[in-house]
Amino acid sequence: MKDFKRYTITSALPYTNGEVHIGHMAGVYLPADIYARYQRSRGEDVLFVGGSDEHGVPITLKAKAEGITPQDVVDKYHESIKKTFKEFKISFDVYSRTSAPIHHETSSEFFTHLHEQGVFLEQESEQYYDEANDQFLADRYITGTCPNCKSEGAYGDQCENCGTSLSPKELINAKSALSGAVPIMKSTKHWYLPLDKMQAKLETWIDGHKGDWKSNVYGQCKSWLDSGLKPRAVTRDLDWGVKVPLKEADGKVLYVWFDAPIGYISASKEWAETTGKDWKPYWQDEDSKLLHFIGKDNIVFHCIIFPAMLMAHGDYIVPENVPANEFLNLEGNKISTSKNWAVWLPDYLKEFEGKADVLRYVLCANAPEAKDNDFTWKDFQAKNNNELVAVLGNFLNRAVVLTHKYYEGKIPERGELNDQDQAVLDQLANFPGIIGGKIEKYKFKEALFEVINLARLGNKYLAETEPWKLVKEDAKKVETIMNIALQISATLAIVLEPFLPDSAKKMSDLLGIGDRTWEEAGSSDLLAPGDQINEAKILFPKIEDAEIEAQIQKLENTKMNNESSAAKAKEDEEKSMEKSAVKEEVAFDDFMKMDIRVATVLECKKVEKADKLLQFLLDTGVDQRTVVSGIAKHYNPEDLVGKQVSVLMNLAPRKIRGVVSNGMILSAENSDGSLKLISPYEPVDNGSSIG
Ligand code: MF3
Ligand code: ZN
Repeated sequence: MKDFKRYTITSALPYTNGEVHIGHMAGVYLPADIYARYQRSRGEDVLFVGGSDEHGVPITLKAKAEGITPQDVVDKYHESIKKTFKEFKISFDVYSRTSAPIHHETSSEFFTHLHEQGVFLEQESEQYYDEANDQFLADRYITGTCPNCKSEGAYGDQCENCGTSLSPKELINAKSALSGAVPIMKSTKHWYLPLDKMQAKLETWIDGHKGDWKSNVYGQCKSWLDSGLKPRAVTRDLDWGVKVPLKEADGKVLYVWFDAPIGYISASKEWAETTGKDWKPYWQDEDSKLLHFIGKDNIVFHCIIFPAMLMAHGDYIVPENVPANEFLNLEGNKISTSKNWAVWLPDYLKEFEGKADVLRYVLCANAPEAKDNDFTWKDFQAKNNNELVAVLGNFLNRAVVLTHKYYEGKIPERGELNDQDQAVLDQLANFPGIIGGKIEKYKFKEALFEVINLARLGNKYLAETEPWKLVKEDAKKVETIMNIALQISATLAIVLEPFLPDSAKKMSDLLGIGDRTWEEAGSSDLLAPGDQINEAKILFPKIEDAEIEAQIQKLENTKMNNESSAAKAKEDEEKSMEKSAVKEEVAFDDFMKMDIRVATVLECKKVEKADKLLQFLLDTGVDQRTVVSGIAKHYNPEDLVGKQVSVLMNLAPRKIRGVVSNGMILSAENSDGSLKLISPYEPVDNGSSIG
């Protein structure tokens, strides 16, 4: 194995158009944080980078919808997300943002460097353009009918109804989402990263990681490579983002997926500026281990596109590993922002105050490392009550309480060891290596399981030796037992730290061991005889059924809201379809067959026992005739006498409620369902034909 001098750890920059939820935490930030804390505990040089991804079209759409600027949107969420990470003890060395000047500088320099080396392919292409707004339309700004499922309101990049990914030109009846106008096609120039030319180099590099990358990650890369890489545009016609640093590129910005990963580098520079350190070795020295923690939807960007950019630049190292995770579901359903199907982290912290560690525990124990996984509130409660409370908390509490009871809180001497004691100490010595080995392999779930196993070992040891019984017969032996139990507790405090930093801190404060390194864990002499420990405190309170029921109820409500709004949306859509659908084409001759004329109402009255019908006597210019019309709900008969209306004269006579109707009075149906008679704008002679 290569010996690395330093670790550059990045975690995907979250989009700042919403809060972060348990899926983000379980998939990205928690594993990255555990890894960073573990390496620091080993005394390694770690730079753990985070920040906000503040560009891209969805942010501009959100701003538009709320009538504020994109900067307002990102300012709001940047602060809030940053605070959430802090409360969850994500130990970033820097948390920056891509709207920061240092990022604009860094990413435009990066682009310029590639441009000067002639890396880019420049190409003109036809794109949709909204003349009313004088701008090219990003894929998300174009809506129309899905060519696949025919539903309305599909976007230029995807139909949200059937999930098909689309290109804007495939949409039927494409319209600008900005103005509603039909966009025109206009030629525009863009800069492309020629991934096709870099395929061989990327392939060799990725093949070399067949053995050490997670199979889900390697597999996805392979399938991208196998289908053949194509040039990718790295610029967009948009006014929110990093301006393309070329004169001829006025009105263009860097594609968000080009600038965002460079954000890791900008953040590192910011860190260097504030700490007086040098950022370059972390990104440019071969003996730095660069790791990207991400979710599976980000794999292509971090395993192919960003590395291609780094390779093309020439000064940079490429990632050593990209331990991407699968997705976390919530109570059996996919987490969805638009359906509000999520546990939002700020909400959790409000409702479970001081329990950041409990969620860290449950999310790590349930991490979607190899496959999608499910978060349920019942499981959350069970893991807290059966593992944190009953195993970890219980063990520590017994060790501390008994120490106070028998020795006034002073660590007792360890006397002669029997086989059982020795076996326990041997196992204790092995745990940190086992746990660390799993963390090194990004198997955080298994690593945490081993931490709990260490507490289980302690519980088992106490249960078998029963010091509370033995104390009367063999006080000396009990000193040994308690010393061993306390050494286990001390190691627990160290190995728990990467996972549950708050609780680990409480444990080490309780035991008075201060900050210890990973290397010291497993030792049977972390606590010296005579050292004083503090009074026991409950580390993990039980979580009651009522708290869990409340959360489940909250989700039920969300579900009900979604169902009723989905039903309403469907109804609205059906209504608008009925209305907007234009009938089948007719020949001009067919239209001319209809004899529509203006007539004046001579008499008008209700039809008996038919509350919708009015009976008219009309002067049509050629005759006086009776027509029955279904508009009694919309007009009073007496108001209509003397008014002019339009009549379809040559409709075959029909008998309606015993009255023969000779023709049809025309009306328009308003969107609220009300009927309005169609009358000439100015009075005309009766019998004037309409057409
Ligand atoms: N904002 C992206 C997402 O949430 C992740 C960006 S990662 C970066 O999916 F590398 F581009 F920063
Ligand atoms: Zn569709």
